[in-house]
This record gives sequence, C-alpha cells and structure tokens, in this order.
Amino acid sequence: MPERPYVIDEMISAKQIAARIEALAREIEKEFSDTRKLVVVGLLRGSFVFIADLVRELDLPVEVDFLEASSYGNAMESSREVRILKDLRGEIEGRDVLVVEDIVDTGYTLTHVLGLLKSRNPKRLKTIALLDKPTRRETDVKADWIGFEIPDEFVVGYGIDFAQRNRNLPHIGKVRFVDEDKA
Ligand code: PRP
Repeated sequence: MPERPYVIDEMISAKQIAARIEALAREIEKEFSDTRKLVVVGLLRGSFVFIADLVRELDLPVEVDFLEASSYGNAMESSREVRILKDLRGEIEGRDVLVVEDIVDTGYTLTHVLGLLKSRNPKRLKTIALLDKPTRRETDVKADWIGFEIPDEFVVGYGIDFAQRNRNLPHIGKVRFVDEDKA
C-alpha cells in the first residue's frame, strides 16, 4: 500500500513536557518517600524516552526494568489483544512498583499489564502515563498520574511512533495527512 504523505504539527513542546515531568516527579517522590527501592517499569517500546527523563528527575532509589507489550503492531487501530513480548527481568513480589506508559488509548494495554503485575503481589502498584485520551477508553482503567489529557488526535514523537517512525521527535506532534487538506 503506498504511504500517505503527512506532516507533523507540534502539539506539546519539549519544554512543556520537561516542566510537567518535574512536577510529576515531586508527586511521585511524596508517594514513595518511604520506599527502599522503587521498581520503575517501562512499557516498551513507546515509553523509552519518557522513562529516561522521568527516572533522572526522581530523587529516589530506583531500579529500572522493562516489559514489552504490543497490541497495535504497525496498525493504527488496537487489535485489543495484548501480547507480552518481553517480561520483566526482576521479581516484584512485595516491592513498590511504578508502571510507566507513554499513552493510554483504549486502555487494553494498561489493563492487561496491571492484571499481570497484580498477580505477582507487589506491595504497591502505581501507574503514570504521559498522555491520556479518555474519550477513546474501552476498559475501566486510569493512570494514577497523567502528564497531559489530549483529544482523540493521532500523535507521534517523544517515544510514540507512526508505523515505527517519528519516535525520535523531541516533542509530541499531531499527524496531519496532507491529502486531507485537498478534500
Ligand atoms: C501503544 C502505546 C501504549 C498502547 C496504548 O503501544 O505505547 O502502550 O499502545 O494503547 P491502548 O490503550 O489502546 O492499549 P503499541 O502496542 O503500539 O507498542 P509500542 O509501545 O511498541 O509502540
């Protein structure tokens, strides 16, 4: 299928993201002030930029682990079937855990991952998502901390891809298909 041409309009600047992460880090530090070591779990691949910035802002002892879940593949629509492609390296039983997600859309990914992690009996399990699209939700899930609530736009950048492209944009952008302009 030939690729549709598109441009990316900036939606949330790198500066706005950094300021928001600073504020969120202070709240997370408060919540976990008594932790011996917080396990920060990044959901691959989308959260790799967010987790890198977030952990460097956190003044807490942290351990970083990753879990890879996928429900989209290269498609624009969720398959609603979440596959775990890579599990955690460490044990989380009795531990304080913070799950880091780039975006909550239908909610299937986060719902599935939280179910899996809860079954391992962590002491405390909290979640943070940089972006939340509440109007798209199909499951009953909400992150404990949210960076930005956004409308139902197709977003890329800061870790988020469009068919594996644009993850390396420093800001969050909105995809605009150029052929729509002519319609
Ligand atoms: C994206 C995104 C979230 C999930 C959110 O992951 O990173 O994890 O979809 O969508 P949902 O709320 O509708 O489940 P994707 O499956 O595209 O994998 P990726 O992180 O590797 O890009």
